[in-house]
Amino acid sequence: MASSCTRPALAYIAMSAALAFMAFKMSQHSNSNSESSPTKPIAHELSLNASRALRKAGFNVFATLLRLSPEIFLSTPNSTIFAIRDPAIPYTSLPPWLFKDLLQYHTSPLNLAMDDLLKKPQGSCLPTLYRGKLMAVTRIEFKERLVEINHVLVSHPNIFLGGPISVHGVLGLFSSLDPQNVHQGWDAIQAPTCDFNSSLVSDVMESKNMVEWSWIIRLLSSNGFVSFAIGLQDVLDGILEENRGLESVTIFAPPNFAFLAFPSSLLQQIVRFHILPQRYTYKELAMLPARTLLMTLVPGQYLELNGADKSKQRLAISGVQVVAPDIFSSDRFMIHGISRAFEVSEHPNTAI
Ligand SMILES: *[C@@H]1O[C@H](CO)[C@@H](O)[C@H](O)[C@H]1NC(C)=O
Ligand SMILES: *[C@@H]1O[C@H](CO)[C@@H](O)[C@H](O)[C@H]1NC(C)=O
Ligand SMILES: *[C@@H]1O[C@H](CO)[C@@H](O)[C@H](O)[C@H]1NC(C)=O
Repeated sequence: MASSCTRPALAYIAMSAALAFMAFKMSQHSNSNSESSPTKPIAHELSLNASRALRKAGFNVFATLLRLSPEIFLSTPNSTIFAIRDPAIPYTSLPPWLFKDLLQYHTSPLNLAMDDLLKKPQGSCLPTLYRGKLMAVTRIEFKERLVEINHVLVSHPNIFLGGPISVHGVLGLFSSLDPQNVHQGWDAIQAPTCDFNSSLVSDVMESKNMVEWSWIIRLLSSNGFVSFAIGLQDVLDGILEENRGLESVTIFAPPNFAFLAFPSSLLQQIVRFHILPQRYTYKELAMLPARTLLMTLVPGQYLELNGADKSKQRLAISGVQVVAPDIFSSDRFMIHGISRAFEVSEHPNTAI
């Protein structure tokens, strides 16, 4: 019995140790100004409760950090913490000071429950604890109760609401981190540009982002395609960057997507190989001649239509059955469930 829980337990201990070290380093870094404000008992109890709620929701890294270093997040009377889901946090690869900056960039000194966020106009900006930089509310869908900040979906609203603290879970980082920038003396955290009235001035991506990606990700993750949804979220920045003006897509969603631990360039390819830059209903696909090559978001790589069998069989594409045709759609996207992930076999594109 002991052996069955050894591995997760070890991983957990390793994570906690790494975070404890990180928290120690971060506190050293801020010793000069944190000594003056010993945490009050009520604030302490609140942060413990918030930490407990985070752990219950599966956000172990933020739960641990909030326990070890509440002062990073709770240096102001009110705060909203946007907790990043564990696998998206690069805590082992960042220097402690940059990690702390990153955490503070995910915390706002305003107390905002989901209902408050939904009342913000799309394009408005919120202050953060990081050097007066802002985060932008890039998408609001009031009816679907969907909020996106810096293009990242708030996937777990209201994990904790207590007194002056709100905690929400998000799928990924609010900023890309370019260590190269740090070495050159630039800011590693890329904040959006907002004007004095705190509304978004120029966000090229948003204006070109016509496909409802965050809706797609939410539909996928709440309907049994969690791993693929996470993969899509992880590579979305790249897709938005390289496919500006993309107006519609077809997505083939596999139930199990076992590539999340792959290097990001490979993950990019694999996810993109499941997306066509055009919207096809099942009927439209079925009307195409067999052996039609379907362009994907990987330049030069195609899926091949195997054609529907005369015997009323399901359509197959590159040897994989379309098992759930037209499961979700809008004017701009169409999602089909497939029996398994496509194989990106020969990597003809990675000849570097
Ligand atoms: C923390 O949680 C406990 C148990 O749920 C509750 O009794 C207590 O009032 C909470 N503390 C604060 C400060 O919210
Ligand atoms: C904290 O939030 C409360 C209630 O939302 C508000 O009355 C108070 O002014 C806020 N404090 C600060 C310092 O923003
Ligand atoms: C900013 O707000 C002021 C006062 O509300 C308004 O007059 C001005 O037009 C706003 N500026 C922009 C760029 O929206």
